Amino acid sequence: MNGILPLRLEEVSYVAGGRTIIERVDLSLEAGASTIVLGANGAGKSVLMRLMHGLLAPSAGRVRWNENGARRRQAMVFQRPVMLRRSALANVVYALEAAGVAAAERAGLAREALAEVGLAHVAARPARVLSGGEQQRLALARAWALHPEVLFLDEPTASLDPGATREIESVIRAFDAAGTKIVMSTHSLGQARRLGDEVIFLHQGRVAERAPVQTFFKQPASAEAAAFIKGELPWT
Ligand SMILES: Nc1ncnc2c1ncn2[C@@H]1O[C@H](COP(=O)(O)OP(=O)(O)OP(=O)(O)O)[C@@H](O)[C@H]1O
Ligand SMILES: [Mg+2]
Repeated sequence: MNGILPLRLEEVSYVAGGRTIIERVDLSLEAGASTIVLGANGAGKSVLMRLMHGLLAPSAGRVRWNENGARRRQAMVFQRPVMLRRSALANVVYALEAAGVAAAERAGLAREALAEVGLAHVAARPARVLSGGEQQRLALARAWALHPEVLFLDEPTASLDPGATREIESVIRAFDAAGTKIVMSTHSLGQARRLGDEVIFLHQGRVAERAPVQTFFKQPASAEAAAFIKGELPWT
């Protein structure tokens, strides 16, 4: 099958401010399974996601997609979404415009995406007055409107309460069910269990372990992952 996956990271390192933040990460992301990038605060999750999505260039190594030149087929939702000073609908329309979608199709696709995340009723409201949970759902709609093959989600529920977190998780499940490859970072063990098929455990910028989610929690192979699961590794 043709597609942008697998995505291969070949010995990828990222150095900033004189520090190696990502160190020789070598992995391949396949279509299908939802991949969780798990790690403590500062482990390098956001930087790794940005490297994967192409927003940062590696200091060494290579990031290779199966097919190139397909920016529309990948999207990312950030830890802190930034909304334009426009309506919720206009924010989604703008993303479609930026991705090169024909003008006549934009409003229809944007309304569909808002409905899918449960925000049809706030379409006309200024995006910046929406609650944190609603803004994060709007960010999901913006990414989802393009029906990407791969969706990178960087701690999409980090600042949300349990109710809003559940809503976001159910939206993510729907995207997964529609066939989009989910790559999500989190430091939440519960979320990794609920949404992940496999875990990439990041520790101090290195992949300490990669395993199916069940195996990871039952029998972590690395000391770092075992300590993180036990709650002994909060900050590193
Ligand atoms: N441009 C940069 N210059 C210098 N240091 C950076 C830069 N970007 C990230 N870092 C550092 O790299 C480390 C990893 O950052 P990153 O944001 O990827 O962590 P994270 O795993 O996403 O953490 P969190 O769970 O808190 O979001 C941090 O110590 C951060 O301060
Ligand atoms: Mg982060």
